[in-house]
Amino acid sequence: MERLQKVIAQSGVASRRKAEELIAGGHVTVNHKLVTEMGIKVSPNDKVEVDGVPLSHESLVYYLFYKPRGVISAVKDDKERKVVTDYLTDVTERIYPVGRLDYDTSGLLLLTNDGDFSQKLTHPSHEIEKVYVAKVKGLASIESLNPLKKGVIIEGKRTAPAKVRVISNERNTNTSIVELVIHEGRNHQVKNMLQAVNLPVMKLKRERYGNLDLKGLQPGYYRRLSKKEVTNLLLLVKEEG
Ligand code: URA
Repeated sequence: MERLQKVIAQSGVASRRKAEELIAGGHVTVNHKLVTEMGIKVSPNDKVEVDGVPLSHESLVYYLFYKPRGVISAVKDDKERKVVTDYLTDVTERIYPVGRLDYDTSGLLLLTNDGDFSQKLTHPSHEIEKVYVAKVKGLASIESLNPLKKGVIIEGKRTAPAKVRVISNERNTNTSIVELVIHEGRNHQVKNMLQAVNLPVMKLKRERYGNLDLKGLQPGYYRRLSKKEVTNLLLLVKEEG
């Protein structure tokens, strides 16, 4: 027996949080009876429907995608811009991104139809380590990056301590390449952090997510995660949570 919201999330219909909203909002029936309270348990023999549509029992899939710049981290866009799922052309399951990268950020993005996995990885209390490399305007030094090691105030809240290093300085163009290692995933986090130390971001790439990197992939390409990689990611969430 599993909790109803978990079963809905695992079927690929929605994240766990969204599943709870669907239940509370009166969209879910179990064996044709409306259920609006949280926490009831269902077995595989129970017939769960969302807005009258039975849950499909898709198998759970996990992909690592090298997002190019100029693509939305979503499954559809009102303005008809390119979205990440446009690239995963031979995936038939209803996958969606785990968290998001900005439109103009490139790099490692996970996609899955496992709402429970997605929820675990993006939960603020146990976000896993992410490595970003940024091209910034200005000549960065370890002194200029130092405040980020302690945390800076963004929108009234101090960021958690980050690991930072200067990769290179380019005097001719007055730009630098810096690396930031963070656990949090607030909106525009890296851009805001670097702006806070007067190093505006010109280009941003996520190079690592937990134990995963982009090795062997070109922008716009993807690969399936192995069972071991998925298990290891969940272990990281536990250790760091
Ligand atoms: N931080 C940002 O500012 N943007 C991203 O896309 C990811 C992290």
